[in-house]
Amino acid sequence: MDTPLAAEIRELIAADGPVPVSRYMALCLGHPRHGYYMTRDPFGTGGDFTTAPEISQVFGELLGIWAASVWDSCGRPSPVRLVELGPGRGTLMADLLRAAGALPAFHAALDIHLVETSPVLAARQRETLKGAPASWHADIGTVPPGPTILIANELLDALPVRQFAMTPKGWRERVIGLADGRLAFGLAPDPVPPEIIPEHLRQAGPGAVYECCPAFEALCAALSRRASDAPLAALFIDYGHAGSAHGETLQAVKGHGFVDPLAEPGEADLTAHVDFEALGRAARAAGLAASPISTQREFLFGLGLASRAEALARANPAAFETVRSGVERLVDPSPTGMGALFKTIVLHESGTAIPVIPERITP
Ligand SMILES: C[S@@+](CC[C@H](N)C(=O)[O-])C[C@H]1O[C@@H](n2cnc3c(N)ncnc32)[C@H](O)[C@@H]1O
Repeated sequence: MDTPLAAEIRELIAADGPVPVSRYMALCLGHPRHGYYMTRDPFGTGGDFTTAPEISQVFGELLGIWAASVWDSCGRPSPVRLVELGPGRGTLMADLLRAAGALPAFHAALDIHLVETSPVLAARQRETLKGAPASWHADIGTVPPGPTILIANELLDALPVRQFAMTPKGWRERVIGLADGRLAFGLAPDPVPPEIIPEHLRQAGPGAVYECCPAFEALCAALSRRASDAPLAALFIDYGHAGSAHGETLQAVKGHGFVDPLAEPGEADLTAHVDFEALGRAARAAGLAASPISTQREFLFGLGLASRAEALARANPAAFETVRSGVERLVDPSPTGMGALFKTIVLHESGTAIPVIPERITP
């Protein structure tokens, strides 16, 4: 299907030449009129994909426990900015706030900020959270300073990546150009500066592909600024790998299946697996500390998944099967299951020990 965005990108390439994969991804997701996230609510069975908070309320509730524990270990600041990046339908935040209600002092301290680029989803979040005092931002830079607890589930995979391919002549950047008038992958002619490729991957064999996410640097710089005069803990959860490796992970998803990333620009979700080691490196380069990387399975069990799911099922026996299947999906340990493929990391100001998996806190 020729989409309005495909026509615009072809014109752009015809005028200015091939574009890096990162530019293509940024246009597909964020083009002001035709970008994927600008025009739709993509969640649920009738949409393109689903996410952990849409699968089970336990996910957001456990993140509420994590946030309360971090708040406790930072000396219970009030107010504390609770920031979510890329809040989707607002489901995670709603579940988190419900769980936070069990600790009234924490709930009362929360000053809620949602950072969202999609007007359609921001409207949906307002609906989900109606009644909860919250502010919306297009960028983290406008969230007022102060002690911060930040969460982001499946945000990082939407940040544009650059791709580099090893050729017989050395590393070259992958670009998108035109072949017979259609969008097609190609390679930029210039050599890639060696420092872009991690040292242990520089000698990879021909055909290897390395991806990097330039936005990590700006994100970590923004977090570091926030952490310069107040406590900060930022939890990122996403699918990806714990160690920088080569391999292509750019993927397009539509109607719960994979499609060709060049076939329907603006009509399919376009993501890449997150390189958590690279995020940790960017954090440390910005003066932050990074926790060890855990799998989602380890993280959720560590937060008390089993007892929370049991309590939920006991409170509503009719929902037992729904609770069980949702929770099993979140912690599925098979290599492509959410429990193993999804990883977590906490970035925080250096010099403090933020509990990645917290101790029990008392009200
Ligand atoms: C895959 S959804 C995840 C939604 C939600 N966190 C969840 O778990 O259901 C990605 C979210 O990030 C938002 N988003 C994409 N790029 C963004 C950016 N650069 N800054 C802030 N939000 C962004 C999307 O509009 C959407 O709300």
